[in-house]
Amino acid sequence: METEEITIDQLESERFIAGQVEEISSAVGNGSAINALSGGVDSSVVTMIAHRSLGDRLRTYFIDTGLMREGEPEYIVSVFQDMGVHVELIDAKKTFFDALRGLTDPEEKRQAITQSFYKDVFGGLVRQTGAKHLLQGTNYTDIEETVAGIKRQHNILAQLGIDPEQRYGYKVIEPLLQLRKSAIRAIGKTLGLPEELYGRPPFPGPALAARVIGEATPERIEIVRAATTILEQELSRSGAFQYLAILHDDRVTGMRDGKRDYGLQIEIRCWESIDAKVASPTRLPYETLEHLADQITLKVPGVVSVTYNVTKKPPSTIEAV
Ligand code: XMP
Repeated sequence: METEEITIDQLESERFIAGQVEEISSAVGNGSAINALSGGVDSSVVTMIAHRSLGDRLRTYFIDTGLMREGEPEYIVSVFQDMGVHVELIDAKKTFFDALRGLTDPEEKRQAITQSFYKDVFGGLVRQTGAKHLLQGTNYTDIEETVAGIKRQHNILAQLGIDPEQRYGYKVIEPLLQLRKSAIRAIGKTLGLPEELYGRPPFPGPALAARVIGEATPERIEIVRAATTILEQELSRSGAFQYLAILHDDRVTGMRDGKRDYGLQIEIRCWESIDAKVASPTRLPYETLEHLADQITLKVPGVVSVTYNVTKKPPSTIEAV
């Protein structure tokens, strides 16, 4: 079936939401459904629409991978609680850090995270709950990228470790297939999500593991997390498309308290972009960069060097891993 885009100009948010509430309800019937909420715009919107449709027959899980930003799991659970949606927080830190141990290759790290998420944690929850309907926030850009061969064609059921032989009866529901990000943000606003959620900059699925070059240990994730907190506070008003802190693998000589300190390096990136396909570094005021360097070296243990990336995408990419 050909999926037809609903552009932001064509979108009537209330009507779209009512239509999806109806479709989910007729697909699920008297059964129950399950979804994983990441806190990103797409999964947040899907959670709200499906909750409107199914109420307590929807089970929403937030999987704490240990790779999230500071306070993120608790923040997301409480935002949804305030909107009357119960989200179950699953502590899966050990699964993810065990899977990442010893891995330094970017693709192997991504693979370990995908496997831990789908097969080990979410797949287990799907099987435990017995829910036969899965909701996901696949959007129109995802379909385009799959067709163009940019993203691997994936079958969510196979990713969840559900044997195709036995998968009869499972149904994947994707309410956002016809929408691009700007339309999904508009729906989020209509649904009453806080602007903090529907207006969020993109954040990669592998989370902070995509921002640690080399092995993503709990200690190294903690360092990039602390730098991220400082950076997001400073740059959230910049209006930039995306901004991030990266922990490098190699060390450089610095000095602290009059002594030589062979310390860590943090790289800052801040991007102007429309669609992440091409991007250029934001011309941040020098004072902002200086303030970031001061704060990061002061507050993040072991960091002696902060740099700013001035390379465009391409040849750079937005993330470093
Ligand atoms: P790159 O680094 O390829 O990123 O220029 C383009 C956009 O995609 C995000 N990104 C990811 N998102 N899983 C994701 O869900 C990933 O592995 C991943 N890698 C990059 C990135 O943050 C940017 O917005």
